[in-house]
Amino acid sequence: MMNKSVLLLLLAIAATEVAAALPADCSVTDANGVRRVMQPNGELLAAQCYQCHGDQGRSLGEIDSIGGKSAGDLYGDLREFKSNGKADIMSLQARAYRDCELYAIAQYLSTLPNQGD
Ligand code: HEC
Repeated sequence: MMNKSVLLLLLAIAATEVAAALPADCSVTDANGVRRVMQPNGELLAAQCYQCHGDQGRSLGEIDSIGGKSAGDLYGDLREFKSNGKADIMSLQARAYRDCELYAIAQYLSTLPNQGD
């Protein structure tokens, strides 16, 4: 039988590892003052991007395809749009999300078939 403090220590370590794998702003404090780590649904959030970037990130028009790009490149682009201080379409899009949401979107889009551009 594991004693309670060992169990709590293991839980604390596990929580730290989850937090370390995600961008820093992923924790929220709920209405009861309890701090929680968000687990954004990248698939759901990415659906909004398809309005301009095509279904599954496969563009049919002028705007770049985003499906199948590397998660690191996508997250880097989105962070750049978010912080560039401009008021163009993508900067406004990116600013509407927490970093952990942008990260989840980038992760999900990277699992889609690459569109080769
Ligand atoms: C209202 C239309 C619109 C929506 C919605 C939209 N985008 Fe964009 N996106 C654009 C346009 C236009 C550009 C080109 C902007 C530029 O080059 O400065 C762009 C550029 C990008 C780029 C850079 C592509 C490259 O190859 O340089 C990425 C990455 C991107 N968008 C991701 C996303 C993601 C992720 C979402 C959803 C959260 C999203 N976009 C939602 C219009 C949109």
